[in-house]
Amino acid sequence: MTRLLLDVDTGIDDALALAYLSSLADVELVAVTASPGNVDAIQVARNTLSILELCGRDGVEVAVGAESPLAIPLVTTPETHGPHGLGHAVLPEPRGTISPRDAVDVWVEAVRAQPGELTALITAPLTNFAMAIRREPRMPELLKNVVIMGGSFYYQGNTTPTAEWNTHVDPHAAKEVFQAYVGLPRDRLPIVCSLDSTERMEMNPEHVRRLAAAAGCGKEELVLPGQPEGLRSTSDNELIRHLSDALRFYFEFHRLYGQGYIAHVHDYFAAGVAAGTLSCTTRLATVDVETDSPLLKGTTVADYRNLWGKPPNARIVSSNHPAAAFDELVSSLGALAARRGQGHD
Ligand code: RIB
Ligand code: CA
Repeated sequence: MTRLLLDVDTGIDDALALAYLSSLADVELVAVTASPGNVDAIQVARNTLSILELCGRDGVEVAVGAESPLAIPLVTTPETHGPHGLGHAVLPEPRGTISPRDAVDVWVEAVRAQPGELTALITAPLTNFAMAIRREPRMPELLKNVVIMGGSFYYQGNTTPTAEWNTHVDPHAAKEVFQAYVGLPRDRLPIVCSLDSTERMEMNPEHVRRLAAAAGCGKEELVLPGQPEGLRSTSDNELIRHLSDALRFYFEFHRLYGQGYIAHVHDYFAAGVAAGTLSCTTRLATVDVETDSPLLKGTTVADYRNLWGKPPNARIVSSNHPAAAFDELVSSLGALAARRGQGHD
């Protein structure tokens, strides 16, 4: 059983990651916390509750913590994920409610109660995680493993020419988190799924068609570049319908920025690494983050050659397998959608 503590900024690819993790019988979602990022933290939490309920994971604790980055104002990205964070999808209002507990309390109490048992997956700016480490400096030792989606190493950014979104939203939090891991043993260091690996995860309309087919949908799910923007899915499967509407927005966004009618599903890849279902190789590095330069704020830098004379603090993903990853997504999430469509789990 993989027991996960998640921090998300649900968003379209966070939602896909949550749906995928919900499809895995041997994954327990211990709790999910919401960091402000793609949308504000309350909206993140509501989106998360809704997607988990759609996937049959009612009752998972969803809590909020920080409402803004550690030291700079929050900037959200409605252009990337839509005004409410899930593209064109309009999910049912969540039946569950946001936990009264603060996200940092959720993390600190969980790792203290279950030392060495929980894997952390962060697919958001690192605000809540940094605050949890401030509160409990032993966090790196108390967690079994950590997977972070964030950063970009010797690869173009997606928010500025050098910076990736999660580290750009809260560069101070990212800097603090990486600093907390300097010098720890290799197997304690965070696995970092940065753009250089996550942008290889190009989801496309054929993947959506295959996912719907795996869910047993009555008709083909066609999300095509020539269709009107915002066309809503009429799939007979509720989960497929919402994922299709969300991903269509993401395809439209990537096309608008010259990347083709595809979607980089960054967080899905990180989720598979955390769940142990997607393989990858990693490379030790010492990572630091620019927090002050107006030109380079949020930029992550990896020292692979000990030029700084500082011990490693990260295991950066150096290779992955996109085709196998999408086969896994179609198979596992398609089966969940089929079960949900038949009124099961
Ligand atoms: O840069 C990609 C990351 O930023 C993903 O986690 C996406 O959801 C956004 O939060
Ligand atoms: Ca995210």
